[in-house]
Amino acid sequence: MADPKRKAHRSLLDEFSTDAPYVTEVRRLMQSLLRHSRGHASRVYMVTSAARGEGKSTTCALLAIVAARIFHRRTLLIDADMRRPSQHTLLDVSPRPGLSALIKGKITLEAARKPTPIPLLQIIPSGRPGQASAEAYDDDSFARVIASARRKHELIFVDAAPVVPVVEPIMMAEHVDGLLLVAMAGRTSIPMIRRMRQILDPVHEKLIGGIVNNAAEGLPYYYDHGYYGYRPERVRAAMEDVSDEDDDPTPQDTGAPGAPTPPKES
Ligand SMILES: Nc1ncnc2c1ncn2[C@@H]1O[C@H](COP(=O)(O)OP(=O)(O)OP(=O)(O)O)[C@@H](O)[C@H]1O
Ligand SMILES: [Mg+2]
Repeated sequence: MADPKRKAHRSLLDEFSTDAPYVTEVRRLMQSLLRHSRGHASRVYMVTSAARGEGKSTTCALLAIVAARIFHRRTLLIDADMRRPSQHTLLDVSPRPGLSALIKGKITLEAARKPTPIPLLQIIPSGRPGQASAEAYDDDSFARVIASARRKHELIFVDAAPVVPVVEPIMMAEHVDGLLLVAMAGRTSIPMIRRMRQILDPVHEKLIGGIVNNAAEGLPYYYDHGYYGYRPERVRAAMEDVSDEDDDPTPQDTGAPGAPTPPKES
């Protein structure tokens, strides 16, 4: 049994329930990813967004949890946002050693990977912040990490920094199979989405899905996630739409189904 004194917070795993409406949304998204990964021994998906605080890490962790726990895939979650790491908190593991030392070749993949309470899910936390910078992604270090992870895991989810203020995500995108873009309804601005589109243009063929993270203020977020998975052409079309004349500060309604009704708290 866990030592109650050790945990000052409740992790995402504590809150996770296979019956929760937001898990249904994540499952739907996973179905699309599994279609995309069909015929491949291993697939790597990077989750990013235009700006900070739009729900990248939460979405990435939920995808990894659902992949391992519900879809029984050998899954690895990599925290590659070394400036604002959070997966160690979400999954309640030690943050070090982790990706920063692994990229620098100081430790092996085995030493960097940590188990989680879900048997098929392992995590590489960020490691020491600031230890690996953009230069680390410039050579083939990150590519080597991904290549060795592919040999052990069917699905790999990479939690990345935001695209607009940080240079690493576009460098990392070269080495993954698909990009999932998160926007938070009411928060992500159209100019930021437009800028993200410009930055990601060189890797636009990797764009496979968009997720509108539909936060509602005042409710516990785990009761009110609205995760909407779109087909790539719809994501591209939505990004085309915002690239021209629309200056509305919030993302457009792309016709996705409504958010799940949150259960009442007792
Ligand atoms: N659907 C949601 N509704 C309400 N709050 C949410 C939702 N998803 C995430 N949050 C909350 O928003 C905050 C930011 O979420 P998260 O850390 O996942 O975003 P991020 O994009 O990874 O942020 P950062 O850029 O700092 O890494 C957290 O406090 C998280 O609990
Ligand atoms: Mg984050």
